[in-house]
Amino acid sequence: MREKYVSNTYRIRRTSFLRNVNSLCVSFVEYKGVFYRLLHPRPTVLVITLCPGNRANIMPASWNLPISEEPPTIGVAVYRETFTYQCLNHHPEATINVPSIDHVDLIYQLGSVSGKEVDKIKEFNIQLIPSDVVKVPTWRDAIAVYETKVMNRLDVGESTLFVFDVLKVKVKPGIADEWSIDFSKTNIPLHGAGRVFHRVDPRKIFARKSLK
Ligand SMILES: Cc1cc2nc3c(=O)[nH]c(=O)nc-3n(C[C@H](O)[C@H](O)[C@H](O)COP(=O)(O)O)c2cc1C
Repeated sequence: MREKYVSNTYRIRRTSFLRNVNSLCVSFVEYKGVFYRLLHPRPTVLVITLCPGNRANIMPASWNLPISEEPPTIGVAVYRETFTYQCLNHHPEATINVPSIDHVDLIYQLGSVSGKEVDKIKEFNIQLIPSDVVKVPTWRDAIAVYETKVMNRLDVGESTLFVFDVLKVKVKPGIADEWSIDFSKTNIPLHGAGRVFHRVDPRKIFARKSLK
């Protein structure tokens, strides 16, 4: 008697569990776009490098991420076809410049031509200033800059993930506190797809400390 009761309860639970699983499954459809689109928009930085012929180059990169706190590192996925890739092999340092959203037109253009064909610094009148600890210059109009040197690299498909050791971090005065950029004062370009960029909503959402 007892056994039958248990197995009936189990059957009922199992059926309702499967019903829940089924209803979860039908709520997804296979995504037909390029796989990474659902991981965008992403903050875009401008990577400056020193290149053969002793000239600088600049490239937007939205596939970037902090990797570790100790030591402080940033990863950037760089297509091996780019001039930036050649430049990083020539001189293993970079400045990682955080632009403001006011520069989306420039950012898009910088990502549409290669330093292999054009001296982008001259062509786009990019104003460079000396960095503090690396030979690679800083973009004068950046909101913030990370001075870095290549620490490691990993070839993945058509890209190389460069791991940059962060040597110095600087920000323009009055636009950031210890937690973040103050998005009521300035904003950063989040790259959606192609020519589409998004901005950060300056309103904050505070998560509850507990779900109870
Ligand atoms: C918003 C934006 C983000 C981009 N992100 C990356 C990236 O993360 N990695 C990359 O290799 N190329 C990225 N690209 C493409 C390069 O910027 C583009 O190939 C550029 O022409 C390379 O310049 P270079 O050959 O002078 O280095 C991006 C382009 C744009 C417009």
